[in-house]
Amino acid sequence: MTEKKRIFSGMQPTGILTLGNYLGAMRNWVALQDEYDCVYCVVDLHSLTVRHEAAELRKRRMSLLAQYIACGIDPEKSIVFMQSHVPAHAELTWVLSCYTYMGELNRMTQFKEKAGRHQDNINAGLFTYPVLMAADILLYQSDLVPVGDDQKQHLEITRDIAKRFNGVYGDVFTIPDPYIPKVGARIMSLQEPESKMSKSDENQNAFISLLDAPETIIRKFKRAVTDSDAVVRYDEKTKPGISNLMSIYSSVTGKSLEQIQQEFEGKGYGDFKMTVGEAVAETLKPIQERYQELMTSKDYLRDVLKKGAEDANRIAARTLGKVYKKIGLV
Ligand code: TRP
Repeated sequence: MTEKKRIFSGMQPTGILTLGNYLGAMRNWVALQDEYDCVYCVVDLHSLTVRHEAAELRKRRMSLLAQYIACGIDPEKSIVFMQSHVPAHAELTWVLSCYTYMGELNRMTQFKEKAGRHQDNINAGLFTYPVLMAADILLYQSDLVPVGDDQKQHLEITRDIAKRFNGVYGDVFTIPDPYIPKVGARIMSLQEPESKMSKSDENQNAFISLLDAPETIIRKFKRAVTDSDAVVRYDEKTKPGISNLMSIYSSVTGKSLEQIQQEFEGKGYGDFKMTVGEAVAETLKPIQERYQELMTSKDYLRDVLKKGAEDANRIAARTLGKVYKKIGLV
């Protein structure tokens, strides 16, 4: 038997996921669980780079864990854990930061963008954020990392740091590759279909939250921005709104874009939007039920975290031990 390749990924506990997070990322994580040895992390340390309230963060990290499981991450198949429960993440970050150049971090577009947005709090953690992410990935000797476009540069710097370290000390780290899903859905805003669906959008109608009630979902789809063409046809350039709705509908039903075009030939946008809204509500219903159930099963969630931390610690401590030995700390 050949060993399964390892996948690592994580999300920040910043609130309730959107339909975009689900269809674009989470659903792939779920699908990968049988074929790969998966490690999924709630990256709570990363969220310290912006100011927050302790009680709020405490709630959000449990909520994200429950969302992971409600979406189909199975703690029996995958390692699911909280980043702060594994001290090696912070420890390896320090070591790796000594093998990372200021110039490299200065080039990170996400840093520049975040620093621009939080001018009053450009802290060092925001700057070294990619090093913590590199530690996350490298501790588990990950082969593949499913990441969106916005994280590609961080994966690239992770590879550079790992290669640099290996160049000096031999093969300590596995060099991770990006995992590009076979069918990746990039879900756009319902109000400005040229930009990505985001939960931080001020316009509530622009995104679907995983926990939106069915009526809310249908209302938001009814209000989705389209065009005046009145033909359900895929063309990202000239019909971004309709194309986005088609991607969403395809993603939740498994129907191809051609099938969808045929299905709605000669029908108005009203019908189409209604059908997409209903299909999305139907898809999210079991996830919502499971989520509510999990949020009242605190003991179960604690057990998951306990087991996850043990399994993750075992792997992470092995890698950190190797690193310490190589650099002369043992
Ligand atoms: N930085 C990632 C994001 O904001 C989250 C993250 C942290 C991550 N560590 C990771 C993703 C390791 C993949 C692998 O989306």
